[in-house]
Amino acid sequence: MSGLNAAAVKQIEEICGRYRDEKTPLMMILSDIQNEYGYIPLEVQEIVSRETGISVAEIYGVVTFYSFFSLTPKGKYVIGCCLGTACYVKGAQNVIDKFSELLKIKPGETTEDGLFTLDALRCIGACGIAPAVSINGTVYPKVSPSQVPEIIDKYKAAE
Ligand code: FES
Repeated sequence: MSGLNAAAVKQIEEICGRYRDEKTPLMMILSDIQNEYGYIPLEVQEIVSRETGISVAEIYGVVTFYSFFSLTPKGKYVIGCCLGTACYVKGAQNVIDKFSELLKIKPGETTEDGLFTLDALRCIGACGIAPAVSINGTVYPKVSPSQVPEIIDKYKAAE
C-alpha cells in the first residue's frame, strides 16, 4: 500500500466516515482497514488522524499494542504458532523453530515471496490439542516438528 493511490485514500476516508457518529471509533476504523488491506502503515495512520482528529501517536499506540493489527504486510498464509503455557510445555518452541528454519524467517517476519508470515501467539484456546498451530483460521492439533515440512508443502502446492 506504499505510495497510496487516490482510490485507496478515498476508501480509507470512506471507512473513517462509517464511524463518524461513534464515540470511540478508532478500533472499528482500524479493524476495517486491517481486514481490507491486511496492514496499517504510517501513511494510512496519518489519513485516519486527519479524518478523525485523533493524533497519530495515539493511533500508532493502538496499532502496535494489539497483535491483531500489523504495520507491515502479512503473507498470504499467516502461520500462528501458539507459545502459550500448555503448548510450550508440549514442545511448541521446537515447532516454531522448525517453521522458522524451513521458511528462513523469524517470528513476526514474512517470506520474500509474500507467501508466509510466521507469528508467535499466546494461548489460542486450544490447549487440549497442544501444541496448536493456526494457519489462516485452520487449527492444526498436536503439531510436531516432523510434521512441519508437509504442512508448509501443502500450502506451497496450493499455489
Ligand atoms: S496454550 Fe496453546 S492453545 Fe492454549
